[in-house]
Order: sequence, then C-alpha cells, then structure tokens
Amino acid sequence: MIRLEGVTKIYKGDVKGVEDLTFRCREGETLALIGTSGCGKTTTLRMVNRLVDLTRGKICVDGKDIYDYSVVKLRRSMGYVIQYIGLLPHLTVARNISVVPELEGWPKARINDRVESLLYMVGLDPEVYSDRYPVELSGGQQQRVGIARALAADPPILLMDEPFGALDPITRQQLQDEFLTLKGRIKKTIVFVTHDILEAVTLADRMAVMNEGRLVQIGTPADIIEKPANQFVSDLLRTHYFQLSLSLVKMEDMMIRNVVTLVEEEGGDLKKRCTSIFRTRRVGSLPVVDRNSCYRGLVTRTSLRDPETPVIYDYPALKTTDTVVIALDCLKRNPSLEIFPVVSSEGRLKGLVSRKAIREHFTENI
Ligand SMILES: Nc1ncnc2c1ncn2[C@@H]1O[C@H](COP(=O)(O)OP(=O)(O)O)[C@@H](O)[C@H]1O
Ligand SMILES: [Mg+2]
Repeated sequence: MIRLEGVTKIYKGDVKGVEDLTFRCREGETLALIGTSGCGKTTTLRMVNRLVDLTRGKICVDGKDIYDYSVVKLRRSMGYVIQYIGLLPHLTVARNISVVPELEGWPKARINDRVESLLYMVGLDPEVYSDRYPVELSGGQQQRVGIARALAADPPILLMDEPFGALDPITRQQLQDEFLTLKGRIKKTIVFVTHDILEAVTLADRMAVMNEGRLVQIGTPADIIEKPANQFVSDLLRTHYFQLSLSLVKMEDMMIRNVVTLVEEEGGDLKKRCTSIFRTRRVGSLPVVDRNSCYRGLVTRTSLRDPETPVIYDYPALKTTDTVVIALDCLKRNPSLEIFPVVSSEGRLKGLVSRKAIREHFTENI
C-alpha cells in the first residue's frame, strides 16, 4: 500500500532528517513508527503526504510514485492527524469536520449525515458538540474531533503523528482503547508515530523502530520484544522491561482450563446436543473437539441458529505458548470475537481465554 525505497531527506544546512529508509506498510495494517525524539518519524510521515519533499529515493502508494499523483488527490487519499490537533479555531466542530467533504463538493445533506455519524463514532454526542468551537472543548475532545476530521471523506489511509501525545494519561488510555475498537471497524491502512513503546505495542500490528534517521528493526510487537535486533532496540525496551515482560505471559498461564466441550463424533443430532448443553451448563460458547481432544471449531449462541451447522469450523484459536502480545495481535485481527479457544502444539483443546481477560491483563499491568 505504502512503500518507501531508499528514502533520504536532507534539510537545509545539511541537516539529516532520514537516511536510506526502505520499508512497507501493508494494506489494512497499523504500522507504528517508533524512536526517540529527532530520529525522523515526523519527517517520514510528512514525506508520505508530500508536506516535505524527498531528497533521494522513492515513495509509492498503491504501486504508484507519489509524485505521479496530483498533490490534492494524494492528500485526499490520506487523513492526517497531528499532536496539537490543528483544528481551525474560527470554525465549529461540524464545520471543521466538513472541510474536506465540502472541498469534494458533497451535497449538504450527505455532509451533515457524515458529521453526525463520525461524531458518534469518536464518542461525542452531535447534539451537544456540533456547534461548539474548538476552545470550548477539552484536549481529549479536540483530539477526537481531529480524528473525525481525518476520517471525514473516508480516505483509505490514515497518517497520525503522536495523536495521543498531548493528552493526560487517563484520557490517553481511553482514546487508545477506543482507537483499537475503531480500527477494527474502519479497516484503514494506518501509519502512526509515537515515542511511547507501550503505545506502539498496544496499538500497532507492526512497529518500525528508527534511530538517527535510519530504520533499525521492523516486525510485530512480539517479534521485536522477543528478538530485539540490536542494543539500541534492547535499550528502548529496557525502560519498560517490567511491563513488557508481563506482555510475555503465556496463554496457558491465563486461560480457563475446565471447559465444557462437545465431542463431534459422539452420535446424535449435533444441533440438539449443543442446544441441550447451552441450556443445562450455562456456557456462553462451546468448543467442539474430536475423539483425541483435537480442536475442531466453536459453537456460539449465535451460530446455534445457523440452519447449516452450528459449528464455526474456521473459528481462530490461540496456542498455549502464545504470549499476551501475540494474543493482542489476534484480537486486532478479529475485532468482533469475544472468546478464543486455546490449543496445544498438537492441536488439542486446552482451555478458553476471553478478549476481556487479555485486554485487562494489558490495561492493568501495562
Ligand atoms: N523543517 C526542518 N528544517 C531543518 N531541520 C529539520 C526540519 N524538520 C526536522 N528537522 C530535523 O530533522 C531531524 C528529524 O526530525 P523529526 O522528523 O521532526 O523527528 P521526530 O519526529 O522523530 O522527533 C531532526 O534532527 C530535526 O531537527
Ligand atoms: Mg515528531
């Protein structure tokens, strides 16, 4: 989706912004650019939407060089959220959000609908907030409007520069939480900048670690925590070593073990047997196994109503040896699922773990 090849930026006076950056952000993924202040994160983001010109190298979006797009078209395909919000002070919340749709010539009614649904989406009641001015909002509320504005014309890409950086810790946590929920729903390609390793681990599918203008390591949070590429990455992690070590807790340490299961081959009508278990055992979901206890699929109260078969055979499972960071990746990929079966390396069902337990492990310990 977004590809950087040998990208270098030298500012006036021979100041190095970034040097020889090569990496990709895949379609639909959330990539965090992480590194200490001055390492070139903002420069990288601003080159993608051409707010900063490249000195050398190439950036492609959807396989096409960004300099082969008109700058207007390029920027309209990317929502941009910055740390200090950047709302226009003389415009109301609704007008701030409408800027791009207005430029695109949307009819008034469609814009109004869009503003209303976006405000709901970011947790602000349109009745209350549409007509307010930015100064009449708290920092967290302004940041929510900033996100709504970036999403207004439904661009496929979202660029965010320390979107939660200026907020107090509680509001920050709240917005991070909502961001995770939102990201599952909107399915965008997102590049966000942060200097906060815990934020990167919690929110990103992959992280690109930068130091002094260069890319040091790119991978999933679990890859990076488990195999830091060099001393710089280890040091970056070490400041939060205790919290991050908690993110290496394994599913076998947190799953529920005494799970009611259904053995698929044991005669009788599958649906009737499921219904009867749901009624008598008061379970919320029912893993199905074969005679060797190997995991086959899951029955939920909803899938029970499926006319074909009550079993969801491709329902994703976690492994007993998966860490909380890996589980978090699985939550990000499956935003609508609340419960996950846990299986051994041989595929035997060992337990169940809930989204809530994984999230609480994170929010309480990290
Ligand atoms: N407009 C500019 N003119 C000159 N130097 C700049 C400019 N913007 C950034 N730099 C320099 O480029 C380097 C990278 O900056 P930046 O991309 O803002 O880092 P980060 O966002 O990671 O903190 C820094 O040394 C910074 O001083
Ligand atoms: Mg910056």
